[in-house]
Amino acid sequence: MKPLHKIIIEKDTSFNPIWIMRQAGRYLPEFREIRKKNTNFIELCLNENLSSEITLQPLKRFNLDAAIIFSDILMLPYGLGQNVKFEKDFGPKLGKLDLNEILKIDESHFVKKINRVYNAIKIVSSNPILDNKNMIGFVGAPWTLLVYMINQQSPKKNLKKDFFNDKFLTNKILLIIEKFLKVHIKNQIQSGANIIQIFDSWAGLIDEKDLPEYIYVPTLNLVNYVKSLNVPVICFPREIKNYKEFCDFVKPDVISIDYNVNPKKILKEIKIPVQGGLDPKILLNDKETLKKEATKYLDIFKDHPYIFNLGHGVLPQTDPNMFDYLVKTVKNY
Ligand code: CP3
Repeated sequence: MKPLHKIIIEKDTSFNPIWIMRQAGRYLPEFREIRKKNTNFIELCLNENLSSEITLQPLKRFNLDAAIIFSDILMLPYGLGQNVKFEKDFGPKLGKLDLNEILKIDESHFVKKINRVYNAIKIVSSNPILDNKNMIGFVGAPWTLLVYMINQQSPKKNLKKDFFNDKFLTNKILLIIEKFLKVHIKNQIQSGANIIQIFDSWAGLIDEKDLPEYIYVPTLNLVNYVKSLNVPVICFPREIKNYKEFCDFVKPDVISIDYNVNPKKILKEIKIPVQGGLDPKILLNDKETLKKEATKYLDIFKDHPYIFNLGHGVLPQTDPNMFDYLVKTVKNY
């Protein structure tokens, strides 16, 4: 059985698997080398030879237990025909959202447009490096994708004031997102993904009263869909106010926690396997601090099914030697 499955299905606490969000990315010089020559990020994601190579880069260096496909949550709006660009020092910029155009897209259009992501998953999952490791596919959660598609850029701290004004549009788009996320999940699994993670990066932005409609119900629908395909599903509702309530409602197989939550409180309240938590900024410190902070999480979750990870993506300024030290600390615990 693959390492993450051992934790999730068998609830094995005798070892500590580790993978890291954004493990394939800018902190690695070999990634920056490829990125320099490929300035269009979407095209890079759609180049299966390069994106499969990038996915495997961290696994060649470090003793990680899973690969996560090098792609982006914004491949979904891209597949739906919305323009998506990544600008240096700005982040994603999306084109105008045209409901009439999106309504013309059917499943075969969508799959054809982003098919090379699935080719990359096939290439990676058939590599012998993956024999004893998991292959993680992922999607953005409906809420976070709705935010990007309507806001057309990162919402940072504030959503457009009139975000919910056009209820007809938001509800219609939410249903379209949900429909195509299922298509995207199904194709990733058919190509070799054996875990799905759902990233809800902007879960913390929503008012409590809107949680059921925009987060709990749509995410539950996706979680049930992944489960129906017999694949475990990890949810990362970043900065959500109440992780316990989220878990009670959505029932993912694993809950990934951000670095603002108290891991002891999570241990007390939540019965399902837990992932992550450590603040990515700790990797910018010295080795002693890193070891101390990583060990804190390992101690707290030593008798609970736990997958080591960070509380958000690894930062671009991280020294790969510190990353290596973290992996070794976890493995030698
Ligand atoms: O984790 C991995 O190694 C897999 C690849 C992955 C990427 N994006 C590659 C990427 C994953 C899982 C994502 C998810 C993603 N993408 C999220 C959810 C997780 C999170 O970070 O909260 C979000 C919100 C996005 C949208 C996105 N993509 C933003 C806001 C940005 C710009 C911000 C930034 O970090 O530069 C991206 C670009 C992006 N996606 C990069 C990578 C490696 C950086 C690209 C580059 O400029 O080289």
